[in-house]
Amino acid sequence: MKHLFGAVEEAAAAIRTAINSVTPRVGIILGSGLGDLAHEIHQPIALPYADLPHFPRSTAAGHAGRLMVGKLGDTGQSVVALQGRFHLYEGWNAQQAAFPVWVLNQLGVNTLLVSNAAGGLNPRYQVGDVMLIDDHINFMFQNPLRGVNDDRLGPRFPDMSAPYDQPLMELAEAVARREGFFCPRGVYVGMLGPTYETRAEYRMARRLGGDAAGMSTVPEVVAAAHCGMRVLGLSTITNACSPDQLGETTHEEVIAAAASAGKKLQAIVEAVVLASS
Ligand code: 6GU
Repeated sequence: MKHLFGAVEEAAAAIRTAINSVTPRVGIILGSGLGDLAHEIHQPIALPYADLPHFPRSTAAGHAGRLMVGKLGDTGQSVVALQGRFHLYEGWNAQQAAFPVWVLNQLGVNTLLVSNAAGGLNPRYQVGDVMLIDDHINFMFQNPLRGVNDDRLGPRFPDMSAPYDQPLMELAEAVARREGFFCPRGVYVGMLGPTYETRAEYRMARRLGGDAAGMSTVPEVVAAAHCGMRVLGLSTITNACSPDQLGETTHEEVIAAAASAGKKLQAIVEAVVLASS
């Protein structure tokens, strides 16, 4: 993309026209199997990515590929949700994967909720747990900010000392206490994929400080940090892959486990949306 800012503006303008006067402040990226949260958006305006200028087209199974705007559950607050994201393993570059985040920011979104499915490296984690991402390691070795920087989007050298918002994590922890579920903070390791890791790679990721491993989220969070958004990252643990527990991993098992944590995610997301109104 030669003129990132121009593309961001054009995509945002098309969305603005389609959603009229609605100005959502919270954006939600729905990850693998977590698309069910989309059903909680009432009378949504749904815009297929294919109809939006400059949006890549998503191909991954379980990813519908559309942007939805509407009121979330009982909150009465408008949100904008991305159902389907762009993974690097599909062949998109990091800038394409992050593109929708800049568009949301241009629309006026200042709080981003990012969800994903991840393998649990931490032996205390069980399938179906929700981990709050309190930091990440970029093991994709790609960065959406590579290339000429446009200062209208954000700075050349963004600070990454705290890309995940502390107050939002505290709010999520309060919800988990109220609802009685385990909700640890941990480090997300972003891998390129599409292979799951070898045992030696799990061992490495664990020793380097990782608690969960996945194939998304890092490019989007880098873009969100670039443009100064508050971020809450939520990983659903879909398979246990601490080196001593590792069995075979299948995509089907990952999707099924992701769906099983839907209720927890919904409670956290609703609380954040209410608090951001
Ligand atoms: Cl175990 N690894 C990676 N890289 N991504 C995943 C996963 C594991 N489980 C779900 N997504």
